[in-house]
Amino acid sequence: MGTTVSEQPAPYGHAPVSVTTGGRIRIHHLQQMKERGERWAMLTAYDMYTAATFDDAGIPVLLVGDSAANNVYGYETSLPVTVDELIPLARAVSRSARRALVIADLPFGSYQASPEQCFHTAARFMKEANVHAVKLEGGEEMTPQVELLAKSGIPVMAHIGFTPQSEHTLGGYRVQGRGDDAGRLITAAKALEAAGAFALLIEMIPGDVAAEISRSVSIPTVGIGAGNGCDAQVLVWQDMAGLRTGRLPRFVKQYADMNAVLRTAAQQYAADVADGSFPAAQHAQPVMLLSRISFDILGRLAGDECDVRVHTARPGRTIELVEATVAMGSRTVVSARAWYMAPVDTVLVAGGVARPLPAPDSVTPWPFAARWPGGFVKSLEVRPTTPPVAGRTTVWLRTAVDLVEGEAASELASYLALVDTANGIAAREAPDRWMFPNIDLTVHLHRQPTGPWVGLDSTAVFGPSGLGVTSSVLHDQTGPVGHAQQSLTVRPVTRKETDNQGRSP
Ligand code: KIV
Repeated sequence: MGTTVSEQPAPYGHAPVSVTTGGRIRIHHLQQMKERGERWAMLTAYDMYTAATFDDAGIPVLLVGDSAANNVYGYETSLPVTVDELIPLARAVSRSARRALVIADLPFGSYQASPEQCFHTAARFMKEANVHAVKLEGGEEMTPQVELLAKSGIPVMAHIGFTPQSEHTLGGYRVQGRGDDAGRLITAAKALEAAGAFALLIEMIPGDVAAEISRSVSIPTVGIGAGNGCDAQVLVWQDMAGLRTGRLPRFVKQYADMNAVLRTAAQQYAADVADGSFPAAQHAQPVMLLSRISFDILGRLAGDECDVRVHTARPGRTIELVEATVAMGSRTVVSARAWYMAPVDTVLVAGGVARPLPAPDSVTPWPFAARWPGGFVKSLEVRPTTPPVAGRTTVWLRTAVDLVEGEAASELASYLALVDTANGIAAREAPDRWMFPNIDLTVHLHRQPTGPWVGLDSTAVFGPSGLGVTSSVLHDQTGPVGHAQQSLTVRPVTRKETDNQGRSP
């Protein structure tokens, strides 16, 4: 759509809104199009999606019509709809249309009583709904209203011919302007133009009369059921898109069969729900994957009741940090942090992992419990893949003992529970002579492991001043899954400590 004068930036600044007024259609653009003989289309819109879609489609003018009474609110006529019902719809449309000029209908009873009443209603639409113009129905008798709005800076479109708000006076849905009545409409059109209307909507009158009106006034005319001689045309969008079914007015042309499209979509949706094919995996919230978990062991872990508290420290749709504490009585004994990430398909670039261990079935058990005391250690089935040496052991292990007695634990949690044994598995020294409990455990995963076998390829390093580190490559039966590190506090066993060998401090 051509414009002759480009707009200046807003002289007093404006709020940081995403909708700029730079490309907005203004009433003078419509006037220029009339002068150039360019025809344009107007559609009703009552909500965000239709407004944005029609705006994108290049429809220059959107009308939040009082036909919302029939098409949104389900009333039989347009008479019952109120200002309070229309304003929210108009607000949605003006918020969503970046370019189109948005016009709101003044509903029945909100402007006829006086120019002042009309002004107050129109001002509400301008202030509360941010529309750019209003429309009102009526002929010459409405010129005082039009005059006051125009003088007050409110662009007003006048609606003549069949005016639905007067349907009871007009005797129902009847073509207006036949015979002698044509003169009345032409006079009204001229009077409304003189009063300051920026455009005329002409409904259901003979085409030749509408064409005559369009030639008689210099402002644009918008026809509906008024033939082909107007400067523009308007349709109710549900009529235009075929959402409305049943008998349609003769002047409607349906450009789509939205009713059939929506009905088929709804039936298909219901069938998918009924047969369980919706929602499918891709519609569910993706299960976040554990990337890293770190435990700091703050005190001795007794076999006692504990209180576990978990909270999300950093929520997110793709990355999330979860924190947990374990308390025994008033003492926090473990604090843990876990990073989770949303899954992404990286199969094409996956690589860089170590070689898988020989399968657990191909290797023989090791009497690990002979080396370490304790009931938990006794429950472990340990199978080294190579003969263990001091500080370097590669094993498979599993246990039949529940992580939490009587409760089903996830495969991941059960797997991680066994990783903490790595510092005992890869012992450098006899545990009755040296203690080397771990004060932390950090596990990094590049893949979620599956159980029940946990593969540990562990190396323990003791430094010269009491610090030690056990590093493990973690495996499941399909191959490596990640790495684990444990900080060890290395010290000689004293007589008092012989009962607590190898456990956390
Ligand atoms: O309210 C409305 O939808 C109208 C039509 C004539 C377009 O005024």
